[in-house]
Amino acid sequence: MRITVLTLFPEFFDSFKTTSIIQRALADNKVTFECVDVRSFTKDKHNHVDDTPCGGGAGMLLMVQPIADALKAVKTENSHVVLLTPQGKTLCQPMVREYLHYDHLILICGHYEGFDERIRSYVDEEVSLGDFVLTGGEIAAMALSDAVIRLCSGVIREESHLDDSFENGLLEYPQYTRPIEYDGMRVPEILLSGHHENIRKWRLKESIRKTYLKRPDLLEKKTLNQEESQFLSEIMEEYNKK
Ligand code: ADE
Repeated sequence: MRITVLTLFPEFFDSFKTTSIIQRALADNKVTFECVDVRSFTKDKHNHVDDTPCGGGAGMLLMVQPIADALKAVKTENSHVVLLTPQGKTLCQPMVREYLHYDHLILICGHYEGFDERIRSYVDEEVSLGDFVLTGGEIAAMALSDAVIRLCSGVIREESHLDDSFENGLLEYPQYTRPIEYDGMRVPEILLSGHHENIRKWRLKESIRKTYLKRPDLLEKKTLNQEESQFLSEIMEEYNKK
């Protein structure tokens, strides 16, 4: 997997590249991550990459030429080009998994005051982090890259992400570590029992409980198997009694 970010602020990514799991993934060559400074592609004699909106209005817009030329320089026939913008499709875990199938992702960071609409014609997909506005696409590009890189083969143990929230359409079950008791709160006894099948069942049920309480919309989208339906009925009964 290769990720190329087109940005006006490559330095934004310095600590991203040199911290924790991402740093290790890059050092071990599990992924290639590079930032391309869009400003180095400007043909403007003052090095400008933005200009005023046609028709008037406040703010400066990122020009199409530096982005189009930067893309031409990095794009191959295997590249998938994503524009980070609040107008895009909201990022979710199934989309992140889809990105693993591409050899090369190119992430274009939008600009806080907007960009020339024609930039859209060069991209395969527009992606948003959510219904809020960031100062630019950099944090969104970092979030998307982080979510993809941690799923790349050999970056973290596979068991660690199979139970992640959203992977099976459910939120992750509650987790505990030592001490067994803290401030009057005990780790559930079943997790100390060593009984793997009971622990599996408990985790599945608690995963369904969390999803029911916090994200019932996810349960509506999910097809439950018999065991899951049974747990959901039990949980609903518990809450109806309260
Ligand atoms: N750029 C500005 N706001 C954004 C958002 N919400 N998602 C992705 N890119 C953005």
